[in-house]
Amino acid sequence: MKILKTTSELKRCLDDRPQGSLGFVPTMGALHKGHISLIKRARQECDFVVLSILVNPTQFGDQSDIEQYPRTFEVDAEIAKNSGVDVVFAPSAEDLYGGVPHAEKVDYGDITSGFEASFRPGHFDGVVAVVDKLFRAVTPDKAFFGEKDLQQVAVVRRLASQEHSSIEIVSCELVRSDSGLALSSRNMRLSEKGVADALALSKALKAIASSSNKSAELFAQTALLNDNTVVELEYLKGVNEITFKDNDKEENWTHIVVAGEVEGVRLIDNVRL
Ligand code: PAF
Repeated sequence: MKILKTTSELKRCLDDRPQGSLGFVPTMGALHKGHISLIKRARQECDFVVLSILVNPTQFGDQSDIEQYPRTFEVDAEIAKNSGVDVVFAPSAEDLYGGVPHAEKVDYGDITSGFEASFRPGHFDGVVAVVDKLFRAVTPDKAFFGEKDLQQVAVVRRLASQEHSSIEIVSCELVRSDSGLALSSRNMRLSEKGVADALALSKALKAIASSSNKSAELFAQTALLNDNTVVELEYLKGVNEITFKDNDKEENWTHIVVAGEVEGVRLIDNVRL
């Protein structure tokens, strides 16, 4: 496995690679089983697999959030190697952006205005900026994204349909810990108690998904989470994974999505209906 730190090294390497399909798994590092499942899927479907690692500055609103983002490069490289990655592409932000990292405002309608977008202004501008640059550098046939970031998948699909129509976006199922917590690099910042407290989010999703009256159960679970003193609920809603229209009718819902903070760590989760 090669580790490449600049776009020009990557280009040289990709120019010389053997013929075959190219799979791409973009990450911000701190790899966990969720990422490994993306790599495995890419490995199954493609001949050559590139994994990128970059903590992208333009998608963080809050300076402290980016500073606290876990950076575990040595361990990540080992995981990548053991999971069958051919190339780890780990550029600096300046190299990838070709100067000072900057993101233009993106307007994809509902997809970039509600849910995550309203709690993290500018977040999807940064995601679109970096994914666009990564797609241009890596030129993959297929790119693999986890469904834990369900709205991000919708945003990336839109970006690809507008700017990178030859790239197939493959969304992969969310991976949970044995206890039910959606795997996320942010979980590393939770204490043992925080991990247990955070399960309130996935329990609420499970209760709604298994209810015969989803709207009523969503109302009940919202009240429960609002009363929960260790979870700061941001939203718990039914949504359509393609449109991300706010307050959509129950018949259009494909997922229930939730976001909240536990111990100051922002967590998101969702369940398919
Ligand atoms: O999902 C992530 O880890 C990031 O948002 C991504 C897609 C790698 C862009 O920085």
